[in-house]
Amino acid sequence: MTIRVYVPRDAAALALGADAVASLLSQAGEVDLVRTGSRGLFWLEPMVEVATSAGRIAYGPVTVADISSLLGAGMLVGGAHPLRLGRPEELPYLAKQTRLTFARCGIVDPLSLDDYRAHGGLKGIARAIEVGPAATIEQVTQSGLRGRGGAGFPTGIKWKTAAEAKGERKFIVCNADEGDSGTFADRMLMEGDPFVLIEGMAIAGIAVGATKGYVYTRSEYPHAIATFNAALDVARREGLLGGSVLGSSHVFDIEQRVGAGAYVCGEETSLLDSLEGKRGQVRTKPPLPAHKGLFGMPTVINNVVSLASVPIIMDKGPEFYREIGMGRSRGTMPIQLAGNIKYGGLFECGFGVTLGELVNDIGGGTLSGRSVRAVQVGGPLGAYFPPALFDTPFDYEAFAARDGLIGHGGIVVFDDTVDLAKQARFAMEFCAEESCGKCTPCRIGSVRGIEVIDRIAAGEAVDANLDLLRDLCHTMKFGSLCALGGFIPYPVMSALDHFPEDFRPVRREAAE
Ligand SMILES: Cc1cc2nc3c(=O)[nH]c(=O)nc-3n(C[C@H](O)[C@H](O)[C@H](O)COP(=O)(O)O)c2cc1C
Ligand code: SF4
Repeated sequence: MTIRVYVPRDAAALALGADAVASLLSQAGEVDLVRTGSRGLFWLEPMVEVATSAGRIAYGPVTVADISSLLGAGMLVGGAHPLRLGRPEELPYLAKQTRLTFARCGIVDPLSLDDYRAHGGLKGIARAIEVGPAATIEQVTQSGLRGRGGAGFPTGIKWKTAAEAKGERKFIVCNADEGDSGTFADRMLMEGDPFVLIEGMAIAGIAVGATKGYVYTRSEYPHAIATFNAALDVARREGLLGGSVLGSSHVFDIEQRVGAGAYVCGEETSLLDSLEGKRGQVRTKPPLPAHKGLFGMPTVINNVVSLASVPIIMDKGPEFYREIGMGRSRGTMPIQLAGNIKYGGLFECGFGVTLGELVNDIGGGTLSGRSVRAVQVGGPLGAYFPPALFDTPFDYEAFAARDGLIGHGGIVVFDDTVDLAKQARFAMEFCAEESCGKCTPCRIGSVRGIEVIDRIAAGEAVDANLDLLRDLCHTMKFGSLCALGGFIPYPVMSALDHFPEDFRPVRREAAE
């Protein structure tokens, strides 16, 4: 009898030797090997699963050296072994999650549309075709979905604006630039369940009357790029994309474009310039992309996770989705735990979980075993939060009220060896490196910021230079054209506010 064995081919699992493990397992007799995405428990990768009469049984982390003892212990029938983890869905890290957008990730064969359908796929688009564009937009609006790329703008309102705009053609652009530090949700989804993104984009196309979609993917994601292109071929072959979407009167196709790797090209208007073949530089607004976007046409730009959340909203209804969450942050967020953390990975749950629960209870604290000193939430433009603020719930408004942001849901953990003055300098360096150069506060301010922090670190007129740094941050925050220059003050100011001792090196060394 053939035994089905699942080995991830997600980039994180590949980096940990999944290909070699898969190759050895494929030679172990009657094995039907399925390559999946990752479930997002990275410390257990490569996590191998075997289909048994009691459901799937997981083993991990599996290395090539473990295979013979695993096979000897009867792994192919779920046998006991020190690496046996049991049923994956019963692992606390997964059991505590509310997996909606990532429901199939790590479970299905990413390139099998049949598998996608068998696990609930394509119901959302069937519903969108049935109810039509206006009701689809209304359903997305009612769900409370907000953009998961960083700004948290209501998705339904964006779609309505593009639907009402006049234009010869309209476009759906998916932002898969995923530049934030410690984030990988877009990548995991494109590698593990690409059809959910295709379905979400096709629904967006039907809703606003767009016939063409572009996915702009960062060049550092070769596996996501390859898997997504292969999924596009399957979707075209099986009629999900093309001249008659699933046999309907709707026309929609998608093309993937690969960026050259600039953080600012994740900003929506720079992304449009880059897609048009120009150097990625921020455009002034208005006009909004929804009025005048790609090639001057009305364009919806959404993050991968925003678009991939739409199918389940269309399938289960807006009430189902908006019931989860807190305040104006509705539904689930795939939170990415990274940096110096014991249990790094993807944790999808409703908004409202506190930062402390995420870092300590779910993430298990630091990997180094030292105490947590700071976490940066929301990528390189996000604030550093000390443990004293760990009661902050994961919610757009709660983070904003504490001068932070949740961004794309990345949390990067640092232990007590971190120097926040160095991190503040790094923020200014990053801004200087990645600035598109269009406006002065960001282009020049970031360079001056590095110089001021260097003077503070050298102990030169520290009080005066600290005042100058705060003044500079104020100018950048309110004078920059986009959120790169406008939000870089967040990591810098949070370092100054919560870790002032790091900016007084002489006094700190004396105290030690
Ligand atoms: C400097 C900068 C970088 C950004 N990088 C990304 C990115 O990598 N991915 C993303 O989805 N949004 C990014 N954004 C946000 C986008 O400008 C835009 O808000 C988002 O694509 C809209 O999609 P959403 O409403 O679905 O979040 C960035 C914004 C700025 C200012
Ligand atoms: S803030 Fe920086 S990245 Fe944004 S437009 Fe100005 S120079 Fe360009």
